[in-house]
Amino acid sequence: MRILFVCLGNICRSPIAEGVMKKLSHDHKLNWEIDSAATNNYHIGEAPHKFSQQVCSEHGVNISMQLARKFSAEDFDKFDLIYAMADDVLSEIKQISGSSFISSKAILFLNELYPNENRSVTDPWYGDKDGYYVVYDEIEACCKKILSKYI
Ligand code: 4NP
Repeated sequence: MRILFVCLGNICRSPIAEGVMKKLSHDHKLNWEIDSAATNNYHIGEAPHKFSQQVCSEHGVNISMQLARKFSAEDFDKFDLIYAMADDVLSEIKQISGSSFISSKAILFLNELYPNENRSVTDPWYGDKDGYYVVYDEIEACCKKILSKYI
């Protein structure tokens, strides 16, 4: 299984999803490939936001080594599932991918936890650290739901 998580900046939400899913798959001895990427260019090459790092660390998840990278159309060849953390991100993925877009691979992340509700993970970028705890819990619950389909 190869899974890619995508958000706008690849510094707040998708790095948490990458870290949590890597830990879950490792704990269950699954040889999954997990990555994350950004639809915009603003933070390419940067480490995750300090609050994402701190909240993950408090949950035993180390994401400090991650570096933001840009999503590209070729990711549809490299990954089995591409999870958009929000609906605007899914639109961006479509736009960037053009004819490479494969709708069956590109899924709104929270639809795994709340089927057909088309919810987005709230962008914690403009808020304080408390928002990152809320986002972490939601992402962890959704990653556990995804894992449960395969174990
Ligand atoms: P993310 O959050 O998409 O969860 O990484 C954001 C980070 C930065 C910006 C927007 C969202 N920004 O506009 O710089």
